[in-house]
Amino acid sequence: MLTLYFRAYDDGAAFRYEFPEQPSLNEVIILDENSQFNLTSNHKTWWIPGDWDIYEHLYTESDFTAIDAISKRGHKALAQTSIPENSVNTPVTMRTADGLHLSFHEANLTDYSGMTLRIDKENLMMTSGLVGSDITGYKVKRTLPFKTPWRTIQISEDAAGLIESNLIVNLNEPNKLGDVDWFTPMKYVGIWWEMHLDKSSWDLKSGKHGATTENTKAHIDFAAQNNIGGVLVEGWNTGWEHWIGFEDREGVFDFVTPYPDYDLEEVAKYAKDNGIQIIMHHETSSAPRTYDKQMDSAYALMNKYDIRSVKTGYVGKIIPKGEYHHGQWMVNHYRRALKTAAKHKVAINAHEPIKPTGIRRTYPNAISREGLRGQEFNAWSPDGGNPPDHLPTVAFTRMLAGPIDFTPGVFNIKLDPYKANNQVNTTLAHQLALYVVIYSPIQMACDLLEHYKDQLAFQFIRDVGVDWEQTKVLHGEVGDFVTIARQERETGNWFVGSITDENKRQITINFDFLEKDKEYEIVVYKDGNDAHWDDNPTSITIEKQTINSTTKKTFNLAPGGGLAISLKVKK
Ligand code: NOJ
Ligand code: CA
Repeated sequence: MLTLYFRAYDDGAAFRYEFPEQPSLNEVIILDENSQFNLTSNHKTWWIPGDWDIYEHLYTESDFTAIDAISKRGHKALAQTSIPENSVNTPVTMRTADGLHLSFHEANLTDYSGMTLRIDKENLMMTSGLVGSDITGYKVKRTLPFKTPWRTIQISEDAAGLIESNLIVNLNEPNKLGDVDWFTPMKYVGIWWEMHLDKSSWDLKSGKHGATTENTKAHIDFAAQNNIGGVLVEGWNTGWEHWIGFEDREGVFDFVTPYPDYDLEEVAKYAKDNGIQIIMHHETSSAPRTYDKQMDSAYALMNKYDIRSVKTGYVGKIIPKGEYHHGQWMVNHYRRALKTAAKHKVAINAHEPIKPTGIRRTYPNAISREGLRGQEFNAWSPDGGNPPDHLPTVAFTRMLAGPIDFTPGVFNIKLDPYKANNQVNTTLAHQLALYVVIYSPIQMACDLLEHYKDQLAFQFIRDVGVDWEQTKVLHGEVGDFVTIARQERETGNWFVGSITDENKRQITINFDFLEKDKEYEIVVYKDGNDAHWDDNPTSITIEKQTINSTTKKTFNLAPGGGLAISLKVKK
């Protein structure tokens, strides 16, 4: 027996299968799923391939019938990629000819394999497929009773409504951790971008080790002076000499032993004295069994130093060979890490994760994650980095699933002198706007500290919130542009962020979301008249004004540009 549940909401619909307890059936092996989604027409689609190992592909905008996931095989910048068939990963977003917006995803992915959607062009149909395992030969194994994840469709008259929908998170079970006030949302800086620029290295033997006590203290000083709560330190622990490009990565990383030039105890004390949170880093290099063994002691060590969050990483093919990042075996590993961390009052920001499916409602220590092409591709991707329409697409696709650790805030857009052939393909104002556009309770200011020195625009990063009371999506079109206003908890301050693709754009903001009868002091950070993501990306104009809820203002966004505004009630 099998029960099928449907739920219908104003903002979409969902269904799931339940295998109830029943005589003579104790365990099931699921070979595949085959739920079918029939489309009414050949909709415009924003998709990434149904990769079993990574979501770090660029989105393609095409007709449904032009989806070609196979063409995305073998991307040079990906440490692991497996695209078995013409399918897409979710969320996948579509627009019908008459302007209706749809996004397909899943909610509450628990003890199951991630779902891809296979493309049947002839029948305008998608069929659910599950990520497999070459080791077991099946997709899922479960003991009865159990329920599958929800298969979800978000539906909205306009693109903006997709972002405002909470359907995914609401389909998850309530908070199981109780009060999580041991973790505070925060901005952070870190020893990170310098490695991606090859200015320093994770690896001690390189002779340019980044994670030193001294460098960390400099970051703590900077954070303390600039209203930034945390400092991430990558490359602090032993193992980086042998982290990728080898088959034998089991047992390489040690999550409790610092390199000799990193004094964890001293760093932790210095951070505490300055009111700064150290963010731990655990790169597993996709040897999850090594991490499983050490997890408890690694989180206990964090506890000893009152370190409340960790960035994890899963670069490379999974060991054992034949398991995939998005299969049931790994879904369970990621969950085990989350639950073990919760026991130790530790929050996780996973990179190369399983996709978000709203689990943060049940386990709020799942603060953020990667699971998309992040900022780092701008530093080293041979394909020229993220094009200007990347984030205007991500906002309506990956971001519907949950918080994103994108790590915005590059001010040295041309990456001089470190990367002659790469740059960030946005303006500086676009980088600022990302703090509002992208939702995450942790937001990095990723650039080298020296690039923030004497920069007037850095004031926006000092001021911007990370913990929001409410969100209003003012306008947007998938892949083109988006404007979001968010109100900070406790202070009541508002922030607005707007980003555009490679096209310049004029947008009008109606400030009627502000409280009536109050005056607001606003600081506008907008593209200079001559700004352009390629020619003149750092041209920015900063203006102060006083406005109220009756104000309407028109702004020009440069090609690849943006707009960031901070708004405070006038005292
Ligand atoms: C990949 C992560 O996305 C990146 O942020 C990190 O620096 C490297 N792994 C090393 O852990
Ligand atoms: Ca990554």
